[in-house]
Amino acid sequence: MPTIHQTVAGTPGRPPERTQVAIIGAGPAGLFLAHLLHRQGIESVILESRSRAEIEGTIRAGVLEQWVVDLMNDMGLGGRMMREGHFHSGITLRFDRESHHIDMAELTGGKRVTVYAQHEVIRDLVSARLEDGGTILFGVSDVQLHDLDGTAPRVRFRRAPDGPLEELRCDHVAGCDGFHGPSRPAIPAADRTEYQIVYPFGWLGILTEAPPSHPELIYANHERGFALLSTRSPEVQRLYLQVDPKDDIANWSDDRIWAELHTRLEDKDGWTLKEGPIFQKGIIAMRSFVCDPMQHGRLFIAGDAAHIVPPTGAKGLNLAVADVLVLSRALTAFYKSGTTEGLNRYSATCLRRIWKAERFSWYMTTMLHRNPHETPFEQRVHLADLDYVVHSRAAMTALAENYVGLPME
Ligand code: APR
Ligand code: PHB
Repeated sequence: MPTIHQTVAGTPGRPPERTQVAIIGAGPAGLFLAHLLHRQGIESVILESRSRAEIEGTIRAGVLEQWVVDLMNDMGLGGRMMREGHFHSGITLRFDRESHHIDMAELTGGKRVTVYAQHEVIRDLVSARLEDGGTILFGVSDVQLHDLDGTAPRVRFRRAPDGPLEELRCDHVAGCDGFHGPSRPAIPAADRTEYQIVYPFGWLGILTEAPPSHPELIYANHERGFALLSTRSPEVQRLYLQVDPKDDIANWSDDRIWAELHTRLEDKDGWTLKEGPIFQKGIIAMRSFVCDPMQHGRLFIAGDAAHIVPPTGAKGLNLAVADVLVLSRALTAFYKSGTTEGLNRYSATCLRRIWKAERFSWYMTTMLHRNPHETPFEQRVHLADLDYVVHSRAAMTALAENYVGLPME
């Protein structure tokens, strides 16, 4: 029987007091790490502040790089993804009301674009982890990291908000607790440098019950702002509009959203956007962020805890998985042969890939959005960039190889 320690649901079992790797956060980073470690015989415990229903219901992005799809299949976690995911050979870039197909598969030796929502990945990983007998403590609070400088770190937490402080002793702590979690601040401020851009725009995202309007994703640059058409299933579509990040979703009636989507996604060849009832909508702000280093003593931070990318490059989940793959390899080397070389190089190894993904996400974002603070000159340069990308095979190949994911060494 799986060990389901779910405080919120009551009947909590007795969680272990000691483990090899304490993982803070059951997002993609924490869950992939627990699975990767389990495959190498390394124990972990995941401490998650939200409930299982909350993490499985939070709507996020949904594009997987080819190597992440391959990894999920290798780990035996890809069954539902292969049945329910959407596999596209490319994407469409739309500007000046013209569509340009970027054939990723042809440009990258067969790598495809997989659309499979992040919360579906979470559902698959949580259920498989519990079936494997793994421990995930949902609904914990007051997580505190202690003694990271020595060889015996401790994590303190409460299983219920009014419950006692409990302690998990471990060899290593993996901070997979997202942008607002306690792990990054546990690296002393004097030892870390944070790099950041906050964009003067955000995305209004909707889920609509409508049939697909197009066989692949459409990224549209329009004078009124960016728009994106994506999908979730034959019955549900995901669309986004560039908006002011401080705008209130209450200002956006369904009629206004559809009118804006029709305008920004318009194509001069008469393509039409199919409408349906909108059943979920919200606004997210956008930033680029990197923390260097991503480690301190026996603490290693991964995923959104260490870096954020704007969603235009579809890199967020993929980067989180890349970090924990590097971390799992380093921890495996440590437990198998006692070497700390991989662990010592963890941050430097990850940051090489991260900065390339930051560059690509920033490039896609600046090229495709209308920035109210940019000069007309800069806006014309972005249009020239788009024109170049869709007419130069070299530029198109560079975009494609970044989009489907740079090789994972
Ligand atoms: N204690 C325990 N868990 C915490 C705490 C805390 N104090 N703070 C945050 N968490 C949990 C969150 O509830 C969340 O489930 O950590 C998890 C972090 O998950 P994500 O934010 O999804 O981050 P990550 O796993 O790095 O995945 C990055 O997620 O945000 C998207 O677009 C991003 O696709 C990217 C991916
Ligand atoms: C999504 O489907 O949510 C999605 C797709 C592509 C992106 C971002 C989000 O670049």
